[in-house]
Amino acid sequence: MATPHIEAETKSVAPRILMPGDPLRAKYIAENYLDDMSQFNCVRNMFGYTGTWKGVEVSVMGSGMGIPSMSIYVEELCRFYQAERIIRVGTCGSIQESLKIRDLVLALSACTDSNINTARFKGCSYAPTADFALARKAWELASKRGIEPQAGTVVSTDIFYAHEGDLSWERWAEYGGLCMEMETAGLYTIAAKHRIQALTILTVSDSLVSGKAESATQRERTYTDMMEIALDTIIS
Ligand code: HPA
Repeated sequence: MATPHIEAETKSVAPRILMPGDPLRAKYIAENYLDDMSQFNCVRNMFGYTGTWKGVEVSVMGSGMGIPSMSIYVEELCRFYQAERIIRVGTCGSIQESLKIRDLVLALSACTDSNINTARFKGCSYAPTADFALARKAWELASKRGIEPQAGTVVSTDIFYAHEGDLSWERWAEYGGLCMEMETAGLYTIAAKHRIQALTILTVSDSLVSGKAESATQRERTYTDMMEIALDTIIS
């Protein structure tokens, strides 16, 4: 079984899949968290692995950056493989004063400046939304660790390097947006189409409000919390 972007036997991809943006992060997660893991994809170096976490089969695969890349992989994982549950684990830039570097975010919904859904729904707007059961589980697991994530809407932007005069992050912030990232609106839309469960968990890596960014050491520590919460949520 092979799709244009995933070369793997149907059974070698688990129904539960974690998706970091960076394929090397997928490799790191597989090597450091999963038991009995093996690689199932290397097409375009978008590495994918399957192993077990606490005895349950879990896959981890990079999504790449942006809604188009995420959408291609999620569509293929749903249509040609057996995806039932996908959790994106990524980083974001805070656009709220109250959301600090290293804080965790549960994306309940995703606004976007992308035109993909405007085209798909012929000018009407669609509300990409997380799976409630997964969001609630992730919240409970975070609470047990003494972590209180901020839960709300995130902004999936197509534009990492904005130009003067572009729609500013302040407008999204004014309407309650928590942070900027680049994939969740794609994940939630395609997941909804295929009736699978999806959630995005994010760590704040930088703040557009303060201009601060976290150090590499700090990033490692918060990633550990997020990863264990995501892994425990996906096998729940
Ligand atoms: N914009 C978009 N995506 C991001 C950012 C950002 O500022 N920070 C981390 N991911």
